[in-house]
Amino acid sequence: MATTSAPQLSPEQVLMQMGSGHWAAMTLSVAVRLGLLEGLEQGPDSAHKLAAQQGYHADSVERLLRGCATLGVTQEVEAGVFGLTDLGRVLLPSHPRSLRDAMVMMTDPAHWHSWYQLEHTVTTGQPAYQKALGVDNVFEYFAGHPDEAERFNRSMASMTRAFVQQLKDAYDITRFALIADVGGGHGQFLGALLQDAPQSRGLLFDLETVLAGADRELEALGVAGRVGKVSGSFFETVPSGADLYLLKHILHDWTDAQCSQILEKIAAAMKPGATLLIAEMLLAEPPHFSPAAMMDLNMMVMTGGRERTAAQYEKLLQGAGLKISRILSLEGPYQLLEAKASQ
Ligand SMILES: C[S@@+](CC[C@H](N)C(=O)[O-])C[C@H]1O[C@@H](n2cnc3c(N)ncnc32)[C@H](O)[C@@H]1O
Repeated sequence: MATTSAPQLSPEQVLMQMGSGHWAAMTLSVAVRLGLLEGLEQGPDSAHKLAAQQGYHADSVERLLRGCATLGVTQEVEAGVFGLTDLGRVLLPSHPRSLRDAMVMMTDPAHWHSWYQLEHTVTTGQPAYQKALGVDNVFEYFAGHPDEAERFNRSMASMTRAFVQQLKDAYDITRFALIADVGGGHGQFLGALLQDAPQSRGLLFDLETVLAGADRELEALGVAGRVGKVSGSFFETVPSGADLYLLKHILHDWTDAQCSQILEKIAAAMKPGATLLIAEMLLAEPPHFSPAAMMDLNMMVMTGGRERTAAQYEKLLQGAGLKISRILSLEGPYQLLEAKASQ
């Protein structure tokens, strides 16, 4: 295979790359959506042949795959013939930590149109998604767009797959008899944890429309018989009696006032001695560099929520009668906050 290494970029080139970031996002997303990267799974192939197999426009497919080569996910091994790189393989559905669905989600209409309204939020403080999508919250939008919602839920599940092993290494969940995942989506997280906790049972709590898609995931993980599904809104009630409550990527979706409501419902559901485990990216205390700051913008645009520092979470938890007992830093961008009742 011919190899070409990426040249050192000048400041101008770096800035141009950032400014055209939406080109890269859409290029990858279309290559994935149209199954073109999957078409290269068995080895390098001609762009024109791939196009003919799928009924696509040959010259445009070749140019798209060449764009993908610039991004490092394909390699042009001879003129018009492309193979996948190791990076590209992570976008295949068959990859164990596939980010295929995440790549598609980030260019789906909810994200694409909401980000276009970033300026609206920055100038007015009003959520971008409300202007872009005309809904009170993005989950309401998903309820009315089942195909896009399915891609969002699969994308959440795929990001979870990459995270689960880190949590298992850092935290012993086998000591909890009943584990409730609040806003647990399709159950990928809960299911993967239960696989390593054969004596534990699970409760999957989410909106009714979302839980409808959970059976397939739980069955595939071999834990369906140990998981009870409970539908509802965490602004109204949370199932009581679990030994461990999980909140993964939930609080960052909501404002402080909404988080307080969710935490109060959870605190009320927790029996004495129960534990709450929150998985989020933590913002560093300013002025320290914060890798979570771009995700904070994504939350501002998509949900009206925000990423928070440990101190900000501490304050929210205190308000609900809970306190942080431990903070565990995982490899990568996520941290675990373990909390218990204050007294
Ligand atoms: C960002 S996703 C996180 C999903 C999952 N915890 C994960 O980390 O992959 C937010 C989840 O909250 C759920 N959700 C939104 N509003 C809810 C509500 N009012 N009550 C219960 N779940 C809700 C969504 O359906 C979605 O599954």
